[in-house]
Amino acid sequence: MRYDLARIKETWTRDSLKSARPDLWRYLPVLPPQNPESIVSLGEGMTPLIRTHRLGAAIGARELWVKDEGLNPTASFKARGMTTAITMARELGIRKIAIPSAGNAASAAAAYAAASGIEAHIFMPKVVPQANYIECKALGAKVTLVDGLISDCARIVAERKDQEGWFDMSTLKEPYRVEGKKTMGYEVAEQFDWELPDAIFYPTGGGVGLIGMWKAFDELEQLGWISSQRPKMIAVQAEGCQPIARAFQQGASHSQFWKDASTIAAGLRVPKPLGDVLILDILRASAGTAVAVSDQEILNAGRELASLEGIFAAPEGAACVIAAKKLLASGFLKPEARIVLYNTGSGLKYLDAYSA
Ligand SMILES: Cc1ncc(COP(=O)(O)O)c(C=O)c1O
Repeated sequence: MRYDLARIKETWTRDSLKSARPDLWRYLPVLPPQNPESIVSLGEGMTPLIRTHRLGAAIGARELWVKDEGLNPTASFKARGMTTAITMARELGIRKIAIPSAGNAASAAAAYAAASGIEAHIFMPKVVPQANYIECKALGAKVTLVDGLISDCARIVAERKDQEGWFDMSTLKEPYRVEGKKTMGYEVAEQFDWELPDAIFYPTGGGVGLIGMWKAFDELEQLGWISSQRPKMIAVQAEGCQPIARAFQQGASHSQFWKDASTIAAGLRVPKPLGDVLILDILRASAGTAVAVSDQEILNAGRELASLEGIFAAPEGAACVIAAKKLLASGFLKPEARIVLYNTGSGLKYLDAYSA
């Protein structure tokens, strides 16, 4: 999506946000719908940005923040992409959607589809967290569990969509989910009074949040709301599925399909992200990096974050804690850096993983 930012900035100012609605639709001039009446909202976005009290000291950071996306509708940041995508489906008169998902995108798709009366067909790996499966069924979606990975689910959607009359909601195959996710970038800028942090840790599966935030920073600079300074963007992956971390270390421009992908962090179980070239470009352009962490480290970090801060994070978010600890210990990040970890979902969705 491209917007006429030169025209938008004539009437839209940072000050006008003071009276804007307290969800991500406060950024409507840079969001896709033509008609505000199309908006399908469940109160997503404007999640808290929390300064940690004790975790920072424990891992050697003076200014460590958590952007807690677990407080979104359906308990993950996927609500951001789905509010915009389903809004556009409604605006464009689409009646049926299909989506391959690692779990949380399915829950969000099912919720927004339910709220707008659109039929949702969901394909998830059969090892998906139980909470996502139960939630999707309750939300009225038609759910198929697939004996395979998200890439197998995507193949089924691609094969059947024409015959079934489904609109394919796979990430980056349609332009609107990334627009919703980019608001994570608008919010962090606004919450820090238009000064971006030094480093952002983002748990990267498809990498759409990372791509979206980078786009947001570019738009914000064009609007004249932020300077050209950018955070180091740090992609966090799981050892059992790390196509981006491997490609980054090898200096490659794109990733290789990761065979036998396996991790408890379901959202990171993406063996070949469609946007790999974009992600790798962003990591390099921002002087960031990519880090892979083990499942055991993730669970330990999740318990540390919960017990020190009162934030029960999804394993994907917990992965950022251990990645930050490693980059502080190695000297890649200085103790005085202002660091933001994205906790992309709630730990309550992953009771099966945490109870192991
Ligand atoms: C909790 C959680 N975190 C992170 C991700 C990865 O998201 P992205 O596609 O933006 O990399 C997912 C995707 O399923 C997720 O559910």
